[in-house]
Order: sequence, then structure tokens, then C-alpha cells
Amino acid sequence: MATPSLLVLTFVIQLLTQSQLVTSSTIQLPVSTPREPITLSVTDFGATGDGIHYDTTAIQSAVDSCTCTPCYVSFPPGTYLTATIFLRSGVFLDIQQGATLLGGTRLHDYPREAWRWYVVAAENASDVGITGGGVVDGQGLKFVQRFDERKNVMVSWNQTGACLGDECRPRLVGFLGCTNVRVWNVTLREPAYWCLHIVRCRNISIHDVSIYGDFNTPNNDGIDIEDSNNTIITRCRIDTGDDAICPKTYTGPLYNLTARDSWIRTKSSAIKLGSASWFDFKHLVFDNITIVESHRGLGLQIRDGGKLILLAFLTFFRAFAGIIDE
Ligand SMILES: *[C@@H]1O[C@H](CO)[C@@H](O)[C@H](O)[C@H]1NC(C)=O
Ligand SMILES: *[C@@H]1O[C@H](CO)[C@@H](O)[C@H](O)[C@H]1NC(C)=O
Ligand SMILES: *[C@@H]1O[C@H](CO)[C@@H](O)[C@H](O)[C@H]1NC(C)=O
Ligand SMILES: *[C@@H]1O[C@H](CO)[C@@H](O)[C@H](O)[C@H]1NC(C)=O
Ligand SMILES: *[C@@H]1O[C@H](CO)[C@@H](O)[C@H](O)[C@H]1NC(C)=O
Ligand SMILES: *[C@@H]1O[C@H](CO)[C@@H](O)[C@H](O)[C@H]1NC(C)=O
Ligand SMILES: *[C@@H]1O[C@H](CO)[C@@H](O)[C@H](O)[C@H]1NC(C)=O
Repeated sequence: MATPSLLVLTFVIQLLTQSQLVTSSTIQLPVSTPREPITLSVTDFGATGDGIHYDTTAIQSAVDSCTCTPCYVSFPPGTYLTATIFLRSGVFLDIQQGATLLGGTRLHDYPREAWRWYVVAAENASDVGITGGGVVDGQGLKFVQRFDERKNVMVSWNQTGACLGDECRPRLVGFLGCTNVRVWNVTLREPAYWCLHIVRCRNISIHDVSIYGDFNTPNNDGIDIEDSNNTIITRCRIDTGDDAICPKTYTGPLYNLTARDSWIRTKSSAIKLGSASWFDFKHLVFDNITIVESHRGLGLQIRDGGKLILLAFLTFFRAFAGIIDE
């Protein structure tokens, strides 16, 4: 038996490499390294972690009891079934190894407004994040109405009028209007819709995050970054059915995004700019991104009037185009 050989395609694109780019690829984020953090365990607030009873009230009480910054809300090993949890300024979820935060699959597990449908959401908060080595799981497969290798048919909650079309189901984690966001050392899996959503935020650090979405599930994007400034993505592993890293602009520009040292497998585009592109994208750097078994490496869909200014692919992209078995 011949060993399967990899067709390796290595290429270098270096566009407009000016000192500005070097600067933006080395932006320093003031991600607070906590001094004497407070830790509250959700079990002290009555969480069962049995995966059967909803622990929403216990978890939200722990979050709301945080009075100091930073405050770590810790989840010991167990499975914590929950409706939407809202983070507050200064709060970091510390989901330990062996712990899973499991998103509910019922419409009434989520707020009334569809734009707030997340398992974990932070709105207008600063110094917030998720870490701990554990898992946030959206139970995306429970939203599949019909499995199909081309594209699963998903449940839609559109009949409630909360949203239209067939993309009407909850995202996994959202930071909206936040400053100093840090998501690190955590696994985000099986979103029913988009996975990690960053909207109108400033100073975002996403590192050592593993994202897994079912390959045949539509719209389960990896990281969607909208209208946000100063984002660094490093050492992430994204394996999903839809676009993996997707900068978008709807209501304002997107400045300073660096993604590097990451691994991507997707049924769609590994890096996809747009299609929402109403405002400018400026200073984007992609460095050492390994793309395997993906339909498209890059997608630039800039069509709504925004401009793309200084996009650089530094060092190299490695695209493993396919596996040839003799
Ligand atoms: C983008 O990064 C540059 C260089 O680090 C910095 O001077 C500039 O203020 C940043 N832009 C925004 C909008 O934060
Ligand atoms: C974001 O980070 C920059 C650069 O480190 C810092 O100057 C700025 O104060 C931070 N912004 C906020 C709102 O904390
Ligand atoms: C967040 O801030 C924006 C802008 O100030 C405001 O319109 C919005 O209502 C705020 N959202 C929440 C949930 O507080
Ligand atoms: C992730 O968290 C686990 C559990 O706390 C820890 O053992 C591990 O070293 C962390 N990994 C990284 C890359 O920070
Ligand atoms: C609701 O979603 C289904 C797919 O799940 C789609 O066929 C239907 O057209 C959608 N209806 C509306 C009103 O958006
Ligand atoms: C990002 O920076 C641009 C340019 O300074 C600014 O217009 C925009 O409001 C900033 N966005 C956020 C979310 O702070
Ligand atoms: C490139 O990224 C991979 C992770 O995908 C990492 O293991 C490797 O060390 C990086 N290479 C360089 C030169 O930084």
C-alpha cells in the first residue's frame, strides 16, 4: 500500500509590505493580566452540572455576584445546561478542563430579540472573556432537521417572527460593543449558527482557541469580526462547515486585524472578507495560516462600497490542496 501523499502548495503573497503593516502585525493589546483575581464557583450558587437540569439561574447569579475586576466564574468538571448567560464587565468564564457549558435548544432559552441569541453574550462590557481549558457547546446537531452530506437542513425559528429566512437560530458566543475582550484556551463546538461573533468591539485577543463545527452544517462560521478594531487571533484551530475567519463591516470600519499561526479546515472559505462590506477594512495581516482540505482559501467579497486598504499575507500560507491516494 502506498502511503497517501500530500499535495503541498506553498505560496507567498506579499502585498504592500510597508512599515505600517509591521506595526499593525505587532499591535500590543492591553489585555489585563489579572492581579489577585476573585474566583466564584458556580456550584456554590447551586449549579448541578448534571447536563439535565438547567443551571442558568445559578450561573447568572455567580456572574452577577462579581463585584471586583477581574472575577473568574469557575465551572468545575461537569456539564452545565444553560439558557443565555450575560457576562458583565470584569467577568471571565473559567470553564475548567472536563467542564462543558451546554447551550439549550429551546426557543425560550434565548432572549426575545434574535440579535441577542447566544449561549454566552456580553453587551457593552469591558475586560470580559472566556478561558479555562473546557468547552462551550451549542448542540448544533440538535438543530439539524435533515442530515445531508451536501448541506444539512436546519431548524429555523423564523415562524416566531424573530427573524426571517432559514438562518434563524442561535449563535454560540457573542461580544457586542465590548472593550478588552479575551478568549483563550477554550474549545467552542457545534454552534447551531455562527460560532464566535465579535461586533463593534475594541482590543480583542483570541488565542489558543479550538473551534469545531459540523462539516455539513450551513452557516456555522468560525470567527466573525464585525466593525471592530485591534483584533489579534493566534494559535487557533478552526475546523468547520462554513467560513472560518470572516471580517465584515456593517455599521463602521474594521481596523487592525492580525491572524497568525492558525490552522483551518472548512467546507467554505478559510479567510473571507465580506460579504458585508459597507465600510473600510484597514490593516489586515494574515501570517502563517495553514489551510487544509478547504473549498476556498481566500474569499474577498468587497461589494457594498467599503474599501480594502493594505491587506497583507506575510510569510506564507500553506494550503494542503488535497490528499492523493495511489
Ligand atoms: C491601528 O493600529 C495602529 C498601529 O498600532 C494604531 O496607531 C492605530 O491607532 C490603530 N487604529 C485604531 C482604529 O485603533
Ligand atoms: C486598546 O489598546 C490600545 C493599545 O494598547 C490602548 O492604547 C487603548 O487604551 C486600549 N483601548 C481601550 C479602550 O482600552
Ligand atoms: C450598548 O451601547 C449602545 C451604544 O451606546 C446602545 O445603543 C445599546 O443600547 C447598548 N446595549 C446594551 C445592551 O446596553
Ligand atoms: C489550558 O488550560 C488547562 C487547564 O487549566 C491548562 O492545563 C493548560 O496549560 C492551558 N493551556 C494553555 C495553552 O494555556
Ligand atoms: C423559514 O425557514 C425555512 C427553512 O427552515 C424556509 O424554508 C422558509 O422559507 C423560512 N420562512 C420564512 C418566512 O423566512
Ligand atoms: C474603529 O476605528 C475607527 C477609526 O478610528 C473608528 O471610526 C471606529 O468607530 C472604531 N470602531 C470602534 C468599534 O471603536
Ligand atoms: C505556524 O503555525 C503553526 C500552528 O498552526 C505553528 O505550529 C508554527 O510554529 C508556526 N510557524 C512559525 C514559523 O511561527
